[in-house]
Amino acid sequence: MQTKLTDSVEEAAVILNSGGVVAFPTETVYGLGAAICHPEALLQLFRAKGRPADNPLIVHLYRIGQVAEVACEVSVQAAKLIEHYFPGPLTLVLKKNPSVPYSVTAGLETVGVRCPANPVAREFLRLACCPVAAPSANRSGLPSATSWEAVMEDLDGKIDCLLRGTPSAIGLESTIVDCSGVKPVLLRAGAITLEQLRTVVPEITTIAVTETKVRPKCPGLKYPHYAPKASIILCTEVEKITQKESAAAYIGISEPPEGVSLQKVCSTLEEYGRELFGFFRLCDAKNIGLIYCELPSEEGFGRAIRDRLMRAAGFA
Ligand code: TXA
Ligand code: MG
Repeated sequence: MQTKLTDSVEEAAVILNSGGVVAFPTETVYGLGAAICHPEALLQLFRAKGRPADNPLIVHLYRIGQVAEVACEVSVQAAKLIEHYFPGPLTLVLKKNPSVPYSVTAGLETVGVRCPANPVAREFLRLACCPVAAPSANRSGLPSATSWEAVMEDLDGKIDCLLRGTPSAIGLESTIVDCSGVKPVLLRAGAITLEQLRTVVPEITTIAVTETKVRPKCPGLKYPHYAPKASIILCTEVEKITQKESAAAYIGISEPPEGVSLQKVCSTLEEYGRELFGFFRLCDAKNIGLIYCELPSEEGFGRAIRDRLMRAAGFA
């Protein structure tokens, strides 16, 4: 299959609406979209990504009013989160509407719903014939794609179209909150922080990493994720490390260990999050064997970076 690379939102939407699989930019990471009303496109999407069928997809909407098209129950807490954070980097898990096929939700009675803020994504979703199911646009298990070049690296020849956009502004996937049960639960940390969520809905709880292994609430969390080929070493006290091997790299906010051959020193957590997956991909391209990553504290956006690093290192 030839993958059409385009800058035209209209062209990308025509391909989507005729049953094609189309990658598109969002503010978190690039998404790989299929219209939920095209069952064969959904199948092709799972194949292209190499994604297990028991891992559900997030449904993307261009306006808040569409939530009622895909969800049948919106709790008071969910409504507050929607009011404050849609459109934006937040996904809510809600009881699904019968119109959403089980192939999207992996057989679950719930559906992940997100309304991205990126203007190109919104225009693409506005032109779509129905809501768009979209996982991150990477091969399963690899770091999410935060640039159109990264999407091509993973999916060229496997998808119908790539709508080219700018690099992802946030660089880590959306925050996910499960609002389908009695108490809202944070399933995945992201740019909308737990502290921010709690200003609106104070009762939001978190799940322990060990609990996700035994009984994953978010099916995707049981699969290995975000992993570059290199081994990851998580470090908090960078200054004490003196690097001996030549093919090692470092990413973090503190000054790097001595002797690394590739380094990315970020000035803020936001920059760290935005650069992380691109840096992993760069390390792979340069055959780096070892990456030192500074582990931020759990506060604020640090929680999301920490979560991705722990998974990349195989701890979760
Ligand atoms: O920022 C994002 O969320 C990006 C962009 C493209 O929107 N999408 C994304 O999708 O990260 P994906 O498929 O890579 O990750 C979605 C996660 C998976 O771990 C999946 O298991 C979980 O969301 N998920 C989806 N629907 C769910 C549901 N009904 N209940 C629990 N978890 C769900
Ligand atoms: Mg993903």
